[in-house]
Amino acid sequence: MTPPLKNDIQVIDIEPFLSGSTDKQLLEKIDRICSETGLFLVTGHGIDENLIDEAYAVSKEFFNLDESTKARYCKPDGSFLGYRGLHTLQASTKRKTVPDKKEVYTIGADDRGSNGKKALEGQPWPAELPAFEGILTRYYRELNKLSLGLSRLFAQALGLPAEFFKRRSDRSVSYLVTFNFPAEGETIPGQVRFAQHRDRDLFTVLTTNAPGLEVKDRQGRWYPVPVQPHAFTVNIGSMFTQWTEGRWTAPLHGVRNATLEETHDNRQTLTFFFNPNAEVKLSPLSVEDGDNINIGAPSDGADAEPQSVSDFLSSAWDLYRIME
Ligand SMILES: [Fe+2]
Repeated sequence: MTPPLKNDIQVIDIEPFLSGSTDKQLLEKIDRICSETGLFLVTGHGIDENLIDEAYAVSKEFFNLDESTKARYCKPDGSFLGYRGLHTLQASTKRKTVPDKKEVYTIGADDRGSNGKKALEGQPWPAELPAFEGILTRYYRELNKLSLGLSRLFAQALGLPAEFFKRRSDRSVSYLVTFNFPAEGETIPGQVRFAQHRDRDLFTVLTTNAPGLEVKDRQGRWYPVPVQPHAFTVNIGSMFTQWTEGRWTAPLHGVRNATLEETHDNRQTLTFFFNPNAEVKLSPLSVEDGDNINIGAPSDGADAEPQSVSDFLSSAWDLYRIME
């Protein structure tokens, strides 16, 4: 039996919404959560559980390859697509911190304006694992579809037309990162699995097979994020905070080290970062779509030229530092 969930992390069944029913109470709840914690779990998402299991399994096969083989699938041109090895990534790109104890393989669009299809075609797929490309490409497309559904939920929760984000996301610059947090091996002093940071993107949809994710709400309280097999954790990214002029919060979060009981196996996460099209301007929503919309308080930079999605993503790497 699944243990009862602790603390205030909400679990939302989105099946009725995805099937066409729009419940005002649900929209108010989403607005409240996104304003306070910026993170919730979803069930009823319609993603095939077998596909999730296959994505975990093929990722694990990849991470089990030897280091020199994996290193061949690291793109050398400064792109973040492909493999990045253990102890090479840190939560901050601008401040010296201890690197995280994680390795990753990233697929999808980069933020330099290429559309998803082109970026997927340019992917350094591992030749040793013929099933890897097919499974993760299918997973990417399914998660993009789910994210478009969630974007309709978010739009309505903000009082915007349901298709507001969807119609700006037909060439979305979204990407999928499969993470591996090894159970064993050396841990550098001060190292954690994923140091505290905020996500850059519009929102993030992830699933994991083990506990460890922790999130801080607007009141400064930290919560462990519960694990439900095949459920997705959805969290707001910094782009959404900027676009809503501070109304919605991109929560500070990180992954703590494994406890002794948890060290029997690696922790894996399949994380989909959703963004609209590269050229979309992050114009204040209250101005963009008119009609009785009052989103957040006007910011000091309200008159500045709005950034594009691409510019925001390029400039927001420092959000990966600890921001206290
Ligand atoms: Fe994150």
